[in-house]
Amino acid sequence: TKTIKNICCIGAGYVGGPTMAVIAQKCPEIKVHVVDINESRVAAWNDPNVEHIPIYEPGLSEIVAETRDRNLFFSTKVDEAIDQADIIFISVNTPTKTYGIGKGMAADLKFIELCARQIARVAKTDKIIVEKSTLPVRTAEALKDILHNTGNGVNFQILSNPEFLAEGTAIDDLLDPDRILIGGDTHTAEGQAAMQTLVDVYAHWVPKAQILTTNVWSSELSKLTANAFLAQRISSINAMSEICEKTGANVDEVARAIGMDSRIGSKFLKSSVGFGGSCFQKDILNLVYISKSLGLQEVADYWEQVIILNDHQKLRFAKNIVKTLYNTVSGKQIAMLGWAFKKDTNDTRESAAIYVSDYLLSEQADVIVYDPKVKTEQIYADLEYLGHHDSETIRQRVKVVKTAKEACQNAHAIAVMTEWDEFKSLDWKSVYDDMYKPAFVFDGRRILDQIRMEALGFNLNIIGN
Ligand code: NAD
Ligand code: UDX
Repeated sequence: TKTIKNICCIGAGYVGGPTMAVIAQKCPEIKVHVVDINESRVAAWNDPNVEHIPIYEPGLSEIVAETRDRNLFFSTKVDEAIDQADIIFISVNTPTKTYGIGKGMAADLKFIELCARQIARVAKTDKIIVEKSTLPVRTAEALKDILHNTGNGVNFQILSNPEFLAEGTAIDDLLDPDRILIGGDTHTAEGQAAMQTLVDVYAHWVPKAQILTTNVWSSELSKLTANAFLAQRISSINAMSEICEKTGANVDEVARAIGMDSRIGSKFLKSSVGFGGSCFQKDILNLVYISKSLGLQEVADYWEQVIILNDHQKLRFAKNIVKTLYNTVSGKQIAMLGWAFKKDTNDTRESAAIYVSDYLLSEQADVIVYDPKVKTEQIYADLEYLGHHDSETIRQRVKVVKTAKEACQNAHAIAVMTEWDEFKSLDWKSVYDDMYKPAFVFDGRRILDQIRMEALGFNLNIIGN
């Protein structure tokens, strides 16, 4: 197989940035160029103060400090990086379509197609193209069509190499992955050689037994399948949380009891205010759309229910706040502890906090937000994006503060939206003293100790109790 000297990654986002940082660290002889059209994002990656890189992930800034300008480079020079690369990872966003056919369901592949056309235009030497983005099954076929019709005699091999990292633990997940999946053209010698080349990159640090090779369609479909199964577990336990609330069962006790069955397993059974993040909803909607396109209505309905239940979980949490506060939150202050979709990330995409706050705004509440890593402008942008309230109303009614304690001052109720560790160790006694009574707390993450909180006087509502 070919000796790899240069890797290019198109897309310096939550996947491209951390993934390439780890490849650069583990493969010091390879130059890794991460390119993006977003100039401010690239500038932030190059910020002399490594704490200012655009993505917060535990352990990431240390690796960037070690590798940046050694063999890891961030730039906006996409053509140049394509030209030099032996392997090109495409790691651009693939959001849900917001227009046209498949609106609200299908993955929008316009960014992927633009990358393929740019590669087709620029490439002068043979390249391995790696789908790192999560894509509908059979996308590689479309890429092949575009790349093979350039007429300049360049050979392209297309591989699928989906990323399984979870945000908040991205670096640990990349350093010690459960598996690496590489799909390619298993029927040809060129296809096999390309797969081997990519295997060799990962084999710098991942044991060979954990590097799986499959045909390209299996690889593409496995990514959607993995996310659908993971999200389905959360919707399943969240469905049980509602039964628990009505019966006196405790959802963590139920989760523990079933999780000790080795066939079920204990992970991903934490009931919550609903899953967020950029992947689960988008990928399941995509799966539903693919199923429908294939004429598989029952399959589509099956997976769609995971989303329906998740939307229900967010809504019933928000409605419960209003109902508990004597059916009105108009003019009341509700403190939102946490805005990120999970702890240890600054990513807010599809965070339950956005939807719950949006609902509370419709009920004319004042919302006070604290999150240790999310920027104020991001919070306003998230609410504006939903389009239910105008910018002026949002900026009037939503206040973003610098500490949890400040958020809770004079609050009528507190909602725990993200499971940041600092919320567990908050000085809850002084929080209690400084807020309206009854002191309502809605724990959407099940991180607070019920006995202790009730002893302090709180009126505690825990999802799933
Ligand atoms: P992101 O939005 O954080 O980053 C994508 C980047 O691509 C953006 O910075 C954008 O400017 C850039 N880009 C778009 N078009 C471009 C072009 N033509 N040329 C150069 N740059 C371009 O997205 P992300 O969270 O990193 O996700 C990327 C892909 O990885 C998606 O398909 C996603 O489904 C998948 N994925 C994400 C995660 C996750 O945890 N976020 C995990 C696994 C897989
Ligand atoms: C997910 C997949 O886990 C990862 O493999 C894939 O590559 C990208 O999508 P991510 O969305 O970053 O990762 O985080 P994840 O840990 O899966 O959490 C997603 C959401 O589910 C979060 O809002 C989280 O709080 C919630 N969650 C997770 C629960 O509510 N309960 C759980 O038991 C686990």
